[in-house]
Amino acid sequence: MFGRRTACVAEETWVAVDQYIDDLIVRPDDALEKAIDESLSAGLPQISVTPTQGKLLHLLARLKGARRILEIGTLGGYSAIWLARALPPGGRLVTLEIEPEHAKVAGANIARAGLAGVVEVRVGRALNSLTRLEAEGIGPFDLIFIDADKKSIPEYFAWSLRLGHSGTLIVVDNVVRGGSVLDPLSKDSSVQGVRRFNELVAAEPRVIATEIQTVGSKGHDGFAFILVL
Ligand code: SAH
Ligand code: DHB
Ligand code: MG
Repeated sequence: MFGRRTACVAEETWVAVDQYIDDLIVRPDDALEKAIDESLSAGLPQISVTPTQGKLLHLLARLKGARRILEIGTLGGYSAIWLARALPPGGRLVTLEIEPEHAKVAGANIARAGLAGVVEVRVGRALNSLTRLEAEGIGPFDLIFIDADKKSIPEYFAWSLRLGHSGTLIVVDNVVRGGSVLDPLSKDSSVQGVRRFNELVAAEPRVIATEIQTVGSKGHDGFAFILVL
């Protein structure tokens, strides 16, 4: 979706350093490793956040004391498990997924992690599910992780402002993708989605934001971090 990347010597080092940090600092974890294995066996795309990134999401949720978390883009539930483990007793995570097969794998992975009572996977187009969440009065959410189709990030950001509150942290994955974000003439709808989102953030007086480039086992990419004022 973002074009083919070529591996380079630097990238080999990024992967090795990620492995070193995973082993020493993030630490192996049965439920998370099984979630990745099962997602692979089921043929899901291998595009979950990395272990170091998952733990960053977990730390952010704990720092915020988040009780209600919304995730847009579940895949096999890997990031959902990291986030849900940060919830206090009574906390809740809702995660949105368009592919029934992904949602099924995620449900099993989440149950195996002992989080079935905490996480709700909603199947359907995220934009439909978001409308429904608002109608049901679910929320407001303290932390929102946007990680679904990139062309719709602008809409997901607008929804996050509606479903958040003052103090909500919005995290968006894949805002750099090897630098493809730099091309204003890109024909890639994902790149255009990220660029349109960046323009919205820049013009939005209700938020304070930054974006951080990352390197590692998923190559060169980045996260947006947005605090709702
Ligand atoms: N957050 C996950 C990775 C998500 S990958 C993790 O880090 O573990 C992106 C997911 O978004 C895929 O499973 C894809 O099927 C889903 N997706 C794509 N378009 C969507 C849409 N319009 N609505 C809901 N989910 C969507
Ligand atoms: C893709 C999507 C992601 O969310 C990601 O982190 C990496 C790649 C993709 O669709 O290509
Ligand atoms: Mg992603």
